[in-house]
Amino acid sequence: MDQPPWAEGIDLSRPSPARVYDYLLGGGHNFASDRALAERMLATEPDARRWAAANRGFLGRAVEALLDAGVRQFIDLGAGIPTVGNVHDIALGATSDARVVYVDVDQVAVTHSRHLVADVSDRVGVVQADLRAPAAVLGDPVTRRLIDFDRPVGVLMVAVLHFVPDADDPCGFLAAYRDAVPSGSGLVISHMSYPAKMTDEVKETVKTYNSSAAPLTFRTRAEVEALFAGWWLMDPGVVPVLQWRPPAGSGDAGAPEIPGLVGVATKA
Ligand SMILES: C[S@@+](CC[C@H](N)C(=O)[O-])C[C@H]1O[C@@H](n2cnc3c(N)ncnc32)[C@H](O)[C@@H]1O
Repeated sequence: MDQPPWAEGIDLSRPSPARVYDYLLGGGHNFASDRALAERMLATEPDARRWAAANRGFLGRAVEALLDAGVRQFIDLGAGIPTVGNVHDIALGATSDARVVYVDVDQVAVTHSRHLVADVSDRVGVVQADLRAPAAVLGDPVTRRLIDFDRPVGVLMVAVLHFVPDADDPCGFLAAYRDAVPSGSGLVISHMSYPAKMTDEVKETVKTYNSSAAPLTFRTRAEVEALFAGWWLMDPGVVPVLQWRPPAGSGDAGAPEIPGLVGVATKA
């Protein structure tokens, strides 16, 4: 495998969630190991691409909803590799005074993001950190430079909390992010959920993913709602991804369901 100079020290023979997701979205920031895993998943779950696209569509709608609610600053945790519909493109497209901090643990995602935002670095920054360490994320010099914690902040955790097992106390670190932001702030979560039917194909896909990338933790609707403790859920609450304010004419409302639960909330 060709190792690009900027990826020195990264084990590219091991697939990463960021790059597998990028491949599912049709992006170009992935390597042979990522493509092989994604293709193995697609062999048993052809809907994996539809899930990735639906999740990305939700992210855009959620950011727009928070912009409408007056939020101008965003911390995107588990931001992934820049692709179509990036948070800073949406936010800066809506208002030139927007601020965005991307956070990811994956060095490839962070390297690409830094390159992509270089020309708007006065308003957009990238932090390599683990979202389970809120003190490190919130105290990072890039976060402190760009985010004013006296003004509302959108905290985004989109398609990332299913990589965090219960043993890592997601409610504990979510509380730290909630307590760090003022009223009027927002929380966006999208999360893998149990499919309506746990078929052999789905079990096989999950097994494939767990054996090669980060293990997945599925959560029920009640468990995803519990992640919003201390926030007020906006309409329509925690719902399957295609049902969260489906764009008119998209056909999402009547499309076959995808096993992902999402919600957007504000801090009173
Ligand atoms: C499926 S991608 C989602 C990307 C983007 N949020 C979206 O929904 O379009 C999940 C991302 O979360 C990142 N990630 C996983 N665990 C993380 C952690 N503990 N801290 C920070 N990032 C994490 C992965 O590296 C990957 O880039």
